[in-house]
Amino acid sequence: MNILIIGSGGREHALAWKCAQDQNVNKVFVAPGNGGTSLDQGIENLKIDIKNADSIANICNQNGIDLVIIGPEQPLVDGIVDDLQLKNINVFGPSAKASRLEGSKAFSKEFFKKYKIPTANYATFNDIESALDHLKDISFPTVIKADGLAAGKGVLICQTISEGKKALEEIFVDNAFGSAGNKVVIEDFLEGEEASFIAVVSGEEIIPLATSQDHKAAYDGDKGPNTGGMGAYSPAPIVTDELHKKIMDEVMSPTVKGLIAEGSSYLGFLYAGLMIKDDEINVLEFNCRFGDPETQPIMMRLESSLVELCLAAINNTLGSHQVRWSSNHACGVVIASEGYPGNYETDKEVIINNHSEDDVKLFHAGTKIQDNQLVTSGGRVFCATGTGADLATAQKNAYNLVSEISFEGAVNRKDIGNKGIS
Ligand code: AMP
Ligand code: GLY
Repeated sequence: MNILIIGSGGREHALAWKCAQDQNVNKVFVAPGNGGTSLDQGIENLKIDIKNADSIANICNQNGIDLVIIGPEQPLVDGIVDDLQLKNINVFGPSAKASRLEGSKAFSKEFFKKYKIPTANYATFNDIESALDHLKDISFPTVIKADGLAAGKGVLICQTISEGKKALEEIFVDNAFGSAGNKVVIEDFLEGEEASFIAVVSGEEIIPLATSQDHKAAYDGDKGPNTGGMGAYSPAPIVTDELHKKIMDEVMSPTVKGLIAEGSSYLGFLYAGLMIKDDEINVLEFNCRFGDPETQPIMMRLESSLVELCLAAINNTLGSHQVRWSSNHACGVVIASEGYPGNYETDKEVIINNHSEDDVKLFHAGTKIQDNQLVTSGGRVFCATGTGADLATAQKNAYNLVSEISFEGAVNRKDIGNKGIS
């Protein structure tokens, strides 16, 4: 079989790496891919316009592609799956209608309310005046969220009313998030520990994948602005067996049933971002795709075939499908360009020292090959991922790998995984 992965991040490198190990897979194509996917054996980058369903369909027909997996949210929300299905392409991902769960926070909060899915109290506003008025009536900290897609950066946690005003001005006046900020959700601040609960969904069938925990804040100790994610580990010990069942019963099942009731049955990876406090769970957000960087440690632990899993979802045979996991733990540390999630420089030469490949994998994100040299091309540049019999060993292996990578302005959090090690 030949596989096509759409996207260019660390998530797509990890998905491609996993597919390339499959004995039934000849070739994995990634469009547009990154420096890492161009270097790995069995993987080839393709330069095509990933917004254009005709270009993707042509590539599929030319290369005998049996399965397309869409990585990032933007093409999903824009309806690439609907367009490819019309062209009879075998594609794994949700429709535009189902992807609204991530594409609009106002929509998703209303959906949670309608289907009694636990979440923070909230209100939605279309203009700055009424949003400012609302700030006078609430307690702080509060959370202000741009409605649309903002690469994980559209959520502002405000400690005081003046921070709240500043956030609203950024969104409504300075247009910091473009049209994603035409509406805002203002919701109660929730305390607790976060976990990422990601499943493969096909209609009512749900196969939960291994649990994981991301680190959204830019700096150590969960300080600084929110990012797309600075590191992740799997499994997440906070998700006990009891909580797992509760999440399936109170979050995942009502969500997939609600989607069916709304006429937007789900196919694809479905990701619930949860806040957990004791035995109380609340949904912070849903994503209509795999997490980045959660994919990287999760793929290191998946023993059975990712391709077979996606095909089972497409072919409505998920109910009888078995997934096997390694009992090992995995930990991924993001190496970013200094300044991320704000402005940062690119085109920095990368040096990767010779290192043991045992128990580690260096997933690339913002890298490219330029004049035969690997250079940086994005904010999140790598995810150095390690495995081990316990989280402490996986963490040590990941950080050993981090120490082998250098480029000007390389930064990384030093505490990825600490929360899972007691
Ligand atoms: P979201 O994109 O909605 O998941 O928000 C991004 C990040 O902001 C989350 O992963 C949390 O770290 C934080 N966050 C979002 N909503 C809340 C909330 N209601 N209370 C506390 N933190 C939140
Ligand atoms: N790591 C968080 C996300 O993928 O949204």
